[in-house]
Amino acid sequence: MKRKQIVAGNWKMHMDYEAGRALVKAIIDRLQPSDTVVVVGPPYIHLKNISGIIKDVTNLKLAAQNCHQENSGAYTGEVSAPMLKSCEVDYVILGHSERREFFDEADSLIARKIDAVLAQGMKPIYCCGEKLEVREAGEHEALVGRQVSEALFHLDKGQIQNVVIAYEPVWAIGTGKTASPEQAQEMHHHIRSLIRQQFGDTVADGISILYGGSVKPGNAKEIFGKPDVDGGLIGGAALKAEDFIAIVESI
Ligand code: 13P
Repeated sequence: MKRKQIVAGNWKMHMDYEAGRALVKAIIDRLQPSDTVVVVGPPYIHLKNISGIIKDVTNLKLAAQNCHQENSGAYTGEVSAPMLKSCEVDYVILGHSERREFFDEADSLIARKIDAVLAQGMKPIYCCGEKLEVREAGEHEALVGRQVSEALFHLDKGQIQNVVIAYEPVWAIGTGKTASPEQAQEMHHHIRSLIRQQFGDTVADGISILYGGSVKPGNAKEIFGKPDVDGGLIGGAALKAEDFIAIVESI
């Protein structure tokens, strides 16, 4: 079965209003029509504006980087899933290692955010991945397995089909150090096997698993060439249109 190939840019806390507009326009100028789903993930302030700019570009979609688990309420500074939906957001990045590390997000909380996003008909991009000391201790498959089961195994088959998984080893994020294509393949295969045990073949063969962590134009092709790697979640290289498009084109 042919899985959806996705290249998503996570802009993190970069790009003011004008710089963000310019970046998305530069991406559109260079984007060729293809079957790859290309996603831009800007900070909240850009969402409504960018949804207008990209609305007629068929293979370009919009992601938010987080949301609150409740639909509304007295949570100063937070943004809910229905609010994102009202800005025509398609995907929501959840469980990023920076949210886990700096905002103390645990899988039990991320599971609730996933439910909130799915309830609005949007697609979570669920991030998982181990720190260096966990890999060095040989515990990486067990840890990622726990992350996947705690955040996703309460879903039913209809729901899980709308989830995208992103494997992002923490030691490869923003460090210039990527997982080798073999390391990525091994973990992606492991994640897909867990999904297979829990949800069966159709779900496992259909779910897109992206790799993230220092993906650049020079290494994307080799990583994306692995059978269980269905695209990438791109940080730094998503902030330059030329680099981002070069990565999209290496699928
Ligand atoms: P870098 O591509 O900058 O390593 O970031 C990866 C990432 O965290 C994407 O979510």
